[in-house]
Amino acid sequence: MTAFRTLDHVDVKGKRILVRVDLNVPVENGIVTDSTRIERTAPAITEIADKGGKVILLSHFGRPKGRDLKQSLKPVAAEVARIIKRPVKFADDCIGEPAERAVAAMKPGDILCLENTRFHAGEEKNDPAFVAALAKLGDVWVNDAFSAAHRAHASTEGLGHKLPAYAGRTMQAELDALTKALEHPEHPLAAIVGGAKISTKLDLVGNLLDKVDALIIGGAMANTFLLAQGKTIGKSLAEADLVATAREIMVKAKAATREIVLPVDVVVAEKFEAHAPSRVVDADQVGAADMILDIGPRSVELVVSVLARAKTLVWNGPFGAFEMEPFDNGTIEVAEAAAELSEAGKLVSVAGGGDTVAALNVAGVVDRLTYVSAAGGAFLEWLEGKALPGVEVLRIK
Ligand code: 3PG
Ligand code: MG
Repeated sequence: MTAFRTLDHVDVKGKRILVRVDLNVPVENGIVTDSTRIERTAPAITEIADKGGKVILLSHFGRPKGRDLKQSLKPVAAEVARIIKRPVKFADDCIGEPAERAVAAMKPGDILCLENTRFHAGEEKNDPAFVAALAKLGDVWVNDAFSAAHRAHASTEGLGHKLPAYAGRTMQAELDALTKALEHPEHPLAAIVGGAKISTKLDLVGNLLDKVDALIIGGAMANTFLLAQGKTIGKSLAEADLVATAREIMVKAKAATREIVLPVDVVVAEKFEAHAPSRVVDADQVGAADMILDIGPRSVELVVSVLARAKTLVWNGPFGAFEMEPFDNGTIEVAEAAAELSEAGKLVSVAGGGDTVAALNVAGVVDRLTYVSAAGGAFLEWLEGKALPGVEVLRIK
């Protein structure tokens, strides 16, 4: 059923395989603090190497303007070696003499990581000369970087027009999970959309409303919807200029018989800090000095009841101020329920987006949901219904 060429469709033996991975991982003082993206891409790397391919890793790292050794991929390449338990050689540039020499020295099964592609302006410009310089290094291009697929850059998209192109195993897993959740879901389909601002999620809400049976709104975003319902929210974060938009969204949802689920009770505090004295009030009883920092127990129950009726869940964005205890409670309880339903085979749950993964990590459910995407921006753009250049180029036409 897959509409993409994958590693199942290519004989890599003895060939030079340019593998676009996403090594854009958080690094502090030269130490990788979260290796999720490396772990996700390890299967493609080892599979190609085991099949006798020469694995040439390509990735960006950070957002350097030109060559900047503070944003070198060298320490990250060392982390790749540690995780896959094999030697990974490193070339100080991703094109030209250093790269060509390193590639020429490779034997089947060897793994080489090239320096940060963004050291060259041609990467982000998808400049044909830069694409050609990269293409010279390989016989085949494998894109295993779903999380960078929203960029039409030389290494994420351009190479797909120059070399035979295939999806890596992580790309394949991401596409399978997202297709199952959003393109061909089992209904009822519920979505949780959280986070601070509706303004950044308008496209997403619009696209989801066309597809989901229930849209559960969390985070400070929900406050703007509470205002639209005519409630007062005290000192809570909200976007006053988007109240009319929130009202339109509710009217549209009603006309389309989509359910919008908003908090019915909330946890409020007068200070925005961890362990600030707090209490639970009904959503229409928020005082003038109160700040809404989480959903309350009745809201958790309501959300869980929606999930219990659903067959599929797409989740982006936490509920409360999850980065501060105990205001991570609502997110954790809903995450736990989603994990249990998924483990019982009753729910297909797919989650993603930067903050979301951090929150689900805190909740300890990342391995218990059906699939948690390693992508931030790319996951959001997919939920918005946008075509991702790095995915489009892999499609079998
Ligand atoms: C990410 O971390 O979201 C991807 O690696 C893309 O990085 P970018 O936002 O700098 O293009
Ligand atoms: Mg980003």
